[in-house]
Amino acid sequence: MDRKPSAIETGWPEEGLTRVPYDVFDSGEIFEREQERLFRGPTWNYLGLECEIPEPGDYKLNFIGTTPIIVCRNGEGEVRAFVNRCTHRGSLLCFRNRGNEKVFTCVYHNWSFDLDGNLKGIAFRRGVNGQGGMPKDFDEEKHGLEAVRVTTRGGVVFGTFSDDTPDLEEYLGPQMTGFIDRMFNRPLRVMGHYSHRLRNNWKLVMENVRDPYHASILHLFFGSFGLSRHTMEGAALLDDSAWHHIVYTKRATDDISGSEYEGGKLKSMKSNLSLADPTLLDEWQEFDDGITNMVQTVFPAVTFQQITNCLGVRHLVPKGPDEAEMIWTLFGYEDDEDWQREIRRTQANLVGPAGLISLEDGAVTNFVQRAIRGREGHEASVVELGGDAVESSANRVTEATVRGFWKGYRDVMGL
Ligand code: FES
Ligand SMILES: [Fe+2]
Repeated sequence: MDRKPSAIETGWPEEGLTRVPYDVFDSGEIFEREQERLFRGPTWNYLGLECEIPEPGDYKLNFIGTTPIIVCRNGEGEVRAFVNRCTHRGSLLCFRNRGNEKVFTCVYHNWSFDLDGNLKGIAFRRGVNGQGGMPKDFDEEKHGLEAVRVTTRGGVVFGTFSDDTPDLEEYLGPQMTGFIDRMFNRPLRVMGHYSHRLRNNWKLVMENVRDPYHASILHLFFGSFGLSRHTMEGAALLDDSAWHHIVYTKRATDDISGSEYEGGKLKSMKSNLSLADPTLLDEWQEFDDGITNMVQTVFPAVTFQQITNCLGVRHLVPKGPDEAEMIWTLFGYEDDEDWQREIRRTQANLVGPAGLISLEDGAVTNFVQRAIRGREGHEASVVELGGDAVESSANRVTEATVRGFWKGYRDVMGL
């Protein structure tokens, strides 16, 4: 299909961050530039949790943008990450999602690499009966796996391709770092993983998770059962760069009297609903700050969530201009008691592709993808709730956190 020139040629709309050109959601040219400037650029990308690879040789697979990555623990117990691409002729080196290996051996021609990414073995290196083989001066040291710079905080592993990426703590700023420390404050225990495909551009998802506007409207369940409402105490926070965000609410502070939530004025409030199994909402106070609902993103593509006692990581992997994969990791702590694990397991029904919340998000982000087809010119979305501010606020009737994403995006993409 012939594409009109994308925002790369036409420039960003002159209104700035209150407009987002729809081109960024379906242009192949923009998708390619994102791989180069954003995912291979000065950003920290989520790779996993240290507790997923506790022993030397343990590994898991992930992606930075579209690039396949192996994350492993080497013989000294340090976390390492490499591009999952054999340096011989480019095969995936590892294709099981998780495992334990002393060396990574490629199935194609048996080249092997140690846990630090060094090339250790070449099949038929000296040929057979003095015939064939690699040249004598072939230098293995020059053919190790491409390494990814790695950092960890609270057992969360991030990687970057760029030497220009500042330390994670500087990248995040003190407030965002503080929220990482709040949730990742002691040894974790992973409860499970799942993933699902989204038929839409990855950035529609990152807008969606940063968008407090829709939470109590689209998500009928949240509004009706008082999990998150604008009438609760909370905040929409951005760091100084505005690249990262947090939105949180405190359920116990809710008071809907006199608000749009009262008397069925808001469609998303169904006061006649009740739960056949109210244990779905059994909970305990997880943190002493009273926050019961918290969503934090680290630019570009990971979300940390606390929905009452359902804790998790949602890592978004772009697959193409109009397709993405969301990989979920739900966790609790090593010191959880059985009844706490049970509550976390029950609350897991709130989120995920078959949950009460996330299927609605997946539906609307796909609605956008479908609706922007066939557009005439360079239409743009309107992101103007709360004006053009790109700063923290105590109210959540704002799209400042969405504008923050686009600020980070434009900073890195040069758009
Ligand atoms: S592609 Fe890996 S050994 Fe040939
Ligand atoms: Fe949502």
